[in-house]
Amino acid sequence: MMQDVVAICLPSFTPVRGVSIGVRPQSDPGASELGSDPARRIGVLISGRGSNLQALIDAIADGRLRAEIAVVIANRADAAGLARARAAGIETLTLPHRDYPTRDAFEAALVAQLRARGVALICLAGFMRLLGPTFLDAFPRAILNIHPSLLPAFPGVDAQQQAWAHGAKIAGATVHLVTGELDGGPIIVQRAVPVEEDDTPDTLAARILDVEHQIYPEAVALMLDGGWTIEGRRFRRGPR
Ligand code: GRF
Repeated sequence: MMQDVVAICLPSFTPVRGVSIGVRPQSDPGASELGSDPARRIGVLISGRGSNLQALIDAIADGRLRAEIAVVIANRADAAGLARARAAGIETLTLPHRDYPTRDAFEAALVAQLRARGVALICLAGFMRLLGPTFLDAFPRAILNIHPSLLPAFPGVDAQQQAWAHGAKIAGATVHLVTGELDGGPIIVQRAVPVEEDDTPDTLAARILDVEHQIYPEAVALMLDGGWTIEGRRFRRGPR
């Protein structure tokens, strides 16, 4: 069975109140190279396979996503995604959470490394650690996660298995902003897939993974393009 990897957040949810407007940070006026545009610099956090990281790398390479991955950070040295990043010439870091005495200390180290690279957006891509206020408060409305279900259905682990076992006829994937609520932040992009009669959890997970790879680059582009608003829980796109 294909392993489900989710970003798990602490239950210290602070509701998103009022309206926030996504404004692209000012670019360096002399910057003509895409790679030197700080407003389009992203950091990706992984724990494993890294196929969603690869989807972001591929979307950047073929021009569907105007962004630069400044760094890929893994909390496990054996994360296969690290090799994908290195193959694409992206800086990698391994910060094993076990090297830190507390979760706060681990998160503070993550924050320091991401800030040092001036990333404007952080993408969790199968990052298997609890994230608390030290991390979440450092990057308000700038952390994305991808989850293999049509949220709010089936949050948590093994979402594809949950959907299959529940007998859902439609499944899918969601990219959302990360808050302190497990898989509960404002939804940026969702896409549905059918659940076929002869599906197994693995065949369903593979179909969902295909749409994950489509929607993660789309959601990152929406975020980086700015002009969006958040009203309550609702993310509303800006003009394209
Ligand atoms: C994906 O299914 C994603 O939705 C979930 O973790 C898995 C990561 O897979 N959050 P990969 O490491 O990107 O291949």
